[in-house]
Amino acid sequence: MPPIHQQILLIGAGELGSAFLPHLSTLPNTHITVGVRSVAKYTHLTNPNVSLLSLDITGPSQELAQTFAKYDILISATGFGQDAGAVTKLAKEALEAGKLRKEAGTSKLWFFPWQWGVDYDVTGDGQGLMPLFGEQVGVRELLRAEAKESHVKWTIVSTGIFMSFLFEQLWGIVDRDGDKITVRALRDWNHRVTVTDVNDIGNVLARIVTGDAEADDRVVYCAGDTVSYAQLADIIQRVKKQDVKREQWSVQHLESELAKDPSDTLKKYRLVFAKDGVYWEKESTVNHKLNISLIDVGTYARKILAG
Ligand SMILES: NC(=O)c1ccc[n+]([C@@H]2O[C@H](COP(=O)([O-])OP(=O)(O)OC[C@H]3O[C@@H](n4cnc5c(N)ncnc54)[C@H](OP(=O)(O)O)[C@@H]3O)[C@@H](O)[C@H]2O)c1
Repeated sequence: MPPIHQQILLIGAGELGSAFLPHLSTLPNTHITVGVRSVAKYTHLTNPNVSLLSLDITGPSQELAQTFAKYDILISATGFGQDAGAVTKLAKEALEAGKLRKEAGTSKLWFFPWQWGVDYDVTGDGQGLMPLFGEQVGVRELLRAEAKESHVKWTIVSTGIFMSFLFEQLWGIVDRDGDKITVRALRDWNHRVTVTDVNDIGNVLARIVTGDAEADDRVVYCAGDTVSYAQLADIIQRVKKQDVKREQWSVQHLESELAKDPSDTLKKYRLVFAKDGVYWEKESTVNHKLNISLIDVGTYARKILAG
């Protein structure tokens, strides 16, 4: 076997992390360590290129930084369920790990923070609705200001909403009630949303890690599809070969719904998704530039709705 020249630490193996693994683990001369809290839950993921490490990102920063410093690439896929401050803590630990690597005379740490989502530079904190989104902006500012000095290279991959989430019943945009389907537009029918399947995010990530894309110290974009809500309704109508009910949730409607229930996270999300920073042109994406074919909304809809 050729020598391993690249060590990746992937934190989290949920919906996203486990979709990354098949792509990362086929990279040549690369070993993937998956950091999770309960190793026993993930033994099925191991193979000669993939091992597990018991790791809790809520742990002491100094220890975590020392662990991260042993790896060339650090990828966070730890999900939404973190406490406030978790993404900032991790970014600071990555910067500390970079410094340790510099002292040891090793290459920069390449850090992919947990920002697999919207364009936080544009959404900001959603006019105060989404403190986590605001914190993500802070992570970007921190990396922009300190990464170079800290011997860290960083890449943020903006993916839009996960394809699976667009069709989640609880999201309320594609609402299935027996045979009846209602498609709802956030803001209006011309408003758009970018979506990417998690498996495809893994594919794009692996190409970035390979060095195929210009991705150093910047935000890059990928998109399985960018569709208007009118196009989404048309696609579903075509796939199901039936009329779908169309309902528009204007910003005003979403605001009054949230006012009834001010702590409802989903209602906050819908309002943020009715605004800007949640879609981009496919032509601006890494997948377009590298000619990587990703699953689009029509193909995904056929997969899960046809029949
Ligand atoms: N752009 C988007 O649309 C978007 C972005 C992100 C997430 N989401 C949504 O959020 C959901 C989750 O996706 P996901 O893959 O990001 O997250 P996930 O499925 O919840 O998985 C999180 C992973 O991180 C691990 N983890 C959690 N806390 C940890 C800690 N303190 N230390 C170490 N590891 C820890 C978990 O391990 P344990 O087994 O220890 O819990 C798990 O393996 C999906 O439903 C998705 O639709 C959407």
